[in-house]
Amino acid sequence: MTSRTPATAPETIPVPGRQPHPATATNGSDPSGRPDKPARTDQTPQITVDRHLTAAERHASLAADMRAGLTSHPRELPPKWFYDATGSLLFDRITRLPEYYPTRREHAVLTAHAAEIAAVCPAGTLIELGSGTSEKTRLLLDALRATGVLRRFVPFDVDEETLLQAGQDILRAYPGISVHAVVGDFERHLGLLPGARPAADTGAAAGAGAAGAAGADGGHGEGRGDRRLVAFLGGTIGNLRPAARGAFLRALSDQFADGDALLLGADLVKDPRRLVAAYDDSAGVTAAFNRNVLSVINRELGADFDLRGFAHVAAWDAENSWIEMRLRSVREQEVGVRALDLVARFDADEQMRTEISAKFTLDSIAAELAAAGLSVSHQWTDPDGDFALTLAVPS
Ligand SMILES: C[S@@+](CC[C@H](N)C(=O)[O-])C[C@H]1O[C@@H](n2cnc3c(N)ncnc32)[C@H](O)[C@@H]1O
Repeated sequence: MTSRTPATAPETIPVPGRQPHPATATNGSDPSGRPDKPARTDQTPQITVDRHLTAAERHASLAADMRAGLTSHPRELPPKWFYDATGSLLFDRITRLPEYYPTRREHAVLTAHAAEIAAVCPAGTLIELGSGTSEKTRLLLDALRATGVLRRFVPFDVDEETLLQAGQDILRAYPGISVHAVVGDFERHLGLLPGARPAADTGAAAGAGAAGAAGADGGHGEGRGDRRLVAFLGGTIGNLRPAARGAFLRALSDQFADGDALLLGADLVKDPRRLVAAYDDSAGVTAAFNRNVLSVINRELGADFDLRGFAHVAAWDAENSWIEMRLRSVREQEVGVRALDLVARFDADEQMRTEISAKFTLDSIAAELAAAGLSVSHQWTDPDGDFALTLAVPS
């Protein structure tokens, strides 16, 4: 995963073989300099890309997180580092596993209610945080397009490769809708969402929005004044600890204008046996996903983790109402991390936490939103009550 432009610098990526998109195919130069790209012509529709996480920033952030995580007791690695191209591919396979019900359930809720969501919030801009492959998002795009107001899709993810592929696929599938992709960390770069109003208008605070709302339109001047629907699907909110969730929701709420809305997908508390099975499938795909973080550290920080030396663990923590994924060291071992000049010594059976996935109730979702200045406008679940979608607006 590489970035070639400084943070926040917009870049346009050509998608070959289609007619120009009026909103984006206006600039005759290709600023990316990528040797393997098709020649840029004014006949080529574009996606615009904002990179808030350049290769250097990604490296620095990964190094800082891994130094903190590998030297803490117990050890803990942030889940965002699962997601390089391989991690995203493995997650995509997880979503199709029989044990992993959340994606199917969320898909069912979206199928049943996308038209209602679009009627309540007929947004000109659909932003998707932690967008991944944006597959379920097509249900929202279809419903919003049918209102006749949608003109822009803004996928936002830490995994650039998957983000750009998904963005190009959406651009092809939705003629007339522009795609403005953002490579960033939603815990750090929310203040740079396209279409955000300047801090002076919103009273935007620090925290995750501390990157500042200045230049929040990506320098394009497009979309200002658009009504925005921010989708945060897949239960990804549950990967944040309670304090981080609060800061994230507050940063989002601080930059909302009247008419903007958050569509939040959250997994609900249920029988722990179903929960654990969803994170410990019989085919071992979640185990491979869990170990992928070690591959990322090996490749990007010159570590020598032996992936066979770590076993996948999934456990339900009733007190905190979350699933924990961990990696258990199957023997006493030492792991060197060259870029950190660090040697991590693991005891046999020592467990390192790699992800939490919090499970909610409808009331706990509403309470966390209220604490961040957002009120529930609508809440839906699938018929079995497994997964919830909540539409929330500024209080
Ligand atoms: C659980 S997956 C959900 C993907 C998709 N939204 C879905 O519903 O299937 C989490 C997604 O969020 C992205 N992600 C995780 N942490 C992130 C962060 N801090 N900033 C931006 N994206 C992040 C991952 O790359 C991944 O695509």
